[in-house]
Amino acid sequence: MSPFRLTRTLPEDATDAALRADVLAGLTGTPKWLPPKWFYDARGSELFEEITALPEYYPTRAEREILVDRAHEIAAATGARTLVELGSGSSEKTRFLLDALTGLRAYVPVDVSESALTQAGEALVAERPDLQVHALIADFTGGLALPGTPGPRLVAFLGGTIGNLLPGERAAFLSAVRALLSPGDALLLGTDLVKDERVLVRAYDDAAGVTAEFNKNVLSVINRELGADFVPTAFDHVALWNAEREWIEMRLRSRTAQTVKVQALDLAVDFTDGEELRTEVSAKFRQEGVRAELAAAGLELAHWWTDAEDRFALSLSVV
Ligand code: AVJ
Repeated sequence: MSPFRLTRTLPEDATDAALRADVLAGLTGTPKWLPPKWFYDARGSELFEEITALPEYYPTRAEREILVDRAHEIAAATGARTLVELGSGSSEKTRFLLDALTGLRAYVPVDVSESALTQAGEALVAERPDLQVHALIADFTGGLALPGTPGPRLVAFLGGTIGNLLPGERAAFLSAVRALLSPGDALLLGTDLVKDERVLVRAYDDAAGVTAEFNKNVLSVINRELGADFVPTAFDHVALWNAEREWIEMRLRSRTAQTVKVQALDLAVDFTDGEELRTEVSAKFRQEGVRAELAAAGLELAHWWTDAEDRFALSLSVV
């Protein structure tokens, strides 16, 4: 029986305080916004898993294709004994890495979703009794302290989740990751790539309405956690391409003029008819941009792998 440890790096009330601070700042700001990390309660994580299987949502399949093709090259280039996965979610694609990394001793999945970590961790421990699994419930955009597992470490940040950070947050995040790495350690980064606008918008506005439900789920999270009275059906899902910033934005558009109360914050929030609340930015990248952002954090782009249709890229930097 291999050990499975689950560590909460922040006390539960710190998560609660962060949610309050974000909701207060975002709903009193102009324009209104919310950070995307609050999508991922148990229901939100389940909806995201559904999104990854949608015909329109290509990033998961494109990244899986690259991982399948390149896992052995990644293993050879890193010789990792510990795999740290930031924003691991269901860890589904990680299997290809776990299987290819022959010297692997420890797997450290890091996620804000406790339900996703527990499900993935328990399944993995049953399959891989040789592996030490140390799950961390943590917000990787805050400071991260890693357990003392054997090096070299490979830190993987897959799925294009780096695109959910704003440019300044990305720079801070990459510097913080760089600071975690010792000589011989590596960073594997997944980035979705700039492509035809129609393909991008469809990926975030699917015909079955799963992404719309995922987007509105953040309102249910705030209702439950902060005693708010959002009516999710009183908002429309919006996905649009910002060509200047090269990112997809998801928004929720108020269908009427309405006032929403957030009990825990003693706050009343007015929405005008048609007013939009930004809930997510999902940046799309080009190779030169990735190279420059890595370099600014002291990381060198050593490998750049894409799928056959050039939709998605994996970058590897070895320190
Ligand atoms: C968390 C980066 C994988 O931005 O594509 C999916 C989240 N949002 N559909 C993305 C998401 C809407 C997703 N990632």
